[in-house]
Amino acid sequence: MSKETNKEVHAVFPGSFDPITNGHLDVLSRASKIFPQITLAVLHNSKKVGKNLFTLEERLEILSKASEHLPNVTVQSFSGLLVDYMRLTGATVILRGLRAVSDYEYELQIAHLNRQMYPKAETVFIMAATRWSYVSSSMVRELASYGADIAKMVPPAAAAALYLKFAAEYAEKN
Ligand code: PNS
Repeated sequence: MSKETNKEVHAVFPGSFDPITNGHLDVLSRASKIFPQITLAVLHNSKKVGKNLFTLEERLEILSKASEHLPNVTVQSFSGLLVDYMRLTGATVILRGLRAVSDYEYELQIAHLNRQMYPKAETVFIMAATRWSYVSSSMVRELASYGADIAKMVPPAAAAALYLKFAAEYAEKN
């Protein structure tokens, strides 16, 4: 009797990535050693256009640069339900990072909802390294908006984009 193998499992790492942080990158790098194929799936939410700091195009560009050293990672955008996107692409794993117990409560609900809608969808959590446990995209945006140094919290492509976005605030600090 042959056992079914799952060599071609395709994982999606969905998110807003506004912008990607070193916590996201840590989870992604470690997952890239487990899954043969990972798609960074950036949510294009038409209701949130103008509410994100970075446009979809900017986020895609930052993500592509930040993940270019990982050969099995690609970057795409999606809109609508994540599970519909997974059905279309054949992805079966949802990758998410956890920083603290507070993340878990929210993630647990979403994981159950997604699997209810699409039973093939299995959510896999990777605990972000403790050194990134305090880093979030929203905090990074807030700090950068005051011209604070965020270089150690985000990949260089994201830092460069933040410096450009808040050029006036950074000029004032230097
Ligand atoms: O980085 P975020 O903002 O925490 O990511 C949230 C995301 C994009 C993974 C989640 O909002 C999502 O999957 N949105 C797509 C719509 C959807 O499928 N919703 C059902 C689960 S809440």
